[in-house]
Amino acid sequence: MRMSVVGTGYLGAVHAACMASLGHEVVGLDVDEAKVALLSSGQAPFHEPGFDELLKEQVDSGRLTFTTDPAEVAGALVHFIGVGTPQVEGGYAADLTYVDAAVASLLPHLGPVDGRRPLVVGKSTVPVGTAERLAAQVEPAGGLLVWNPEFLREGFAVQDTIDPDRIVYGLSKDESDAAEAKAVLDEVYAELLARDIPLVVTDYATAELVKVAANSFLATKISFINAMAELCTATGADVSTLAEAIGHDDRIGKKFLRAGIGFGGGCLPKDIRAFMARAGELGADQALTFLREVDLINDRTRLHAVDLARRAVGGRLRHKTVAVLGAAFKPDSDDMRNSPALDIARRVHDEGAHVKVTDPAAGPVLRKRGTRLEVVDSAREAADGADVVMLLTEWKQFKELDPDELAEVAPARIIVDGRNALDPARWRAAGWTYYGIGRP
Ligand code: UGA
Repeated sequence: MRMSVVGTGYLGAVHAACMASLGHEVVGLDVDEAKVALLSSGQAPFHEPGFDELLKEQVDSGRLTFTTDPAEVAGALVHFIGVGTPQVEGGYAADLTYVDAAVASLLPHLGPVDGRRPLVVGKSTVPVGTAERLAAQVEPAGGLLVWNPEFLREGFAVQDTIDPDRIVYGLSKDESDAAEAKAVLDEVYAELLARDIPLVVTDYATAELVKVAANSFLATKISFINAMAELCTATGADVSTLAEAIGHDDRIGKKFLRAGIGFGGGCLPKDIRAFMARAGELGADQALTFLREVDLINDRTRLHAVDLARRAVGGRLRHKTVAVLGAAFKPDSDDMRNSPALDIARRVHDEGAHVKVTDPAAGPVLRKRGTRLEVVDSAREAADGADVVMLLTEWKQFKELDPDELAEVAPARIIVDGRNALDPARWRAAGWTYYGIGRP
């Protein structure tokens, strides 16, 4: 099937390549010429395991192309919307400028394709009510609107797109429009549906809410365990053991209960805020006041990590040398949007410390972008002469560091493990003073 993907950021580029890998003919549309040029040459503009190979393979196959010209999407039966919905400046709400512009750019191209009405399929995370509003523009132009939220995680984007936990269709309330749209989407995802991936068919509002509810739940789980970490700090208990013990209960589960410096990235923080803002507009703000607390706990845990470092070096960070291992918001990513690691590194720097940061993927990006922090190429270089080493993004290579080897360059032997990713006994045995989050 011929289809387009509007917006070739994280979501759109991965979705486009994955759709091509299912055998579809896909054109990715973006306003960013540099990004389109890079993608067209088969190079990924961001770090994502497995994506480079997939992209190159699909571009080489001829099934996947990229363009800045909206006219090239004409003739596609399905148009996916994969643009960003960042937090507005000076507020909590989602900025829908890019979604609105994407839909507007499609309106002139929604004539019938082989006698069928084309679909505009929203994948971006939007405030509930957006799909209904956009349907009122798409339908008169000859198309059908569907909301089909995306649940991919960075670092697992390809796998999550090709093998998702579930697929959600948010369809029109008009039964015949809904049936027509569903039939087309079933063709798009035929290979996935044949593998019995659960399909949830619902209305626009529910589909939009599924996405923000899922992210709110995940954020709540993380802040819950970080709140427990505060209690553990106050009592000398161990939050890692606590998480393991409660996680044995299937109803609770072990995932997303890793205490540390909290959640960041381009999704969880802005999504819970946009959800609160939307609830306010709907007069249902009380239902989500708990998310305010989730957000506050998340902010507090970052400050706690800075406190730990300050205390570890005797009460003042001024003129101290601090090694920061990790800048990305999570491992296997070079994404530093709302990164707890980078935020903490900057705060430590602002207290007068000399910060040396290293990150296998985000480091080069940070250096290119320009930063007041010193960016170095390895953990050993960062730790050289450091009064305290802070592990803030749990890359595999940092988790596997040898405490004896690192001690050769960092004689102070103080480590703050902001992700509770290290074995305290091993580091202590090598003479290190170990600080975790909510660990004795
Ligand atoms: C998140 C969701 O997990 C995806 O399902 C969703 O599709 C995506 O947002 C989105 O809305 O597009 P992602 O932002 O890639 O995915 O990152 P997560 O894996 O959810 O991690 C978010 C943050 O939570 C990271 O900073 C991570 O370090 C932190 N985290 C995660 C913890 O602090 N503790 C945990 O136990 C788990």
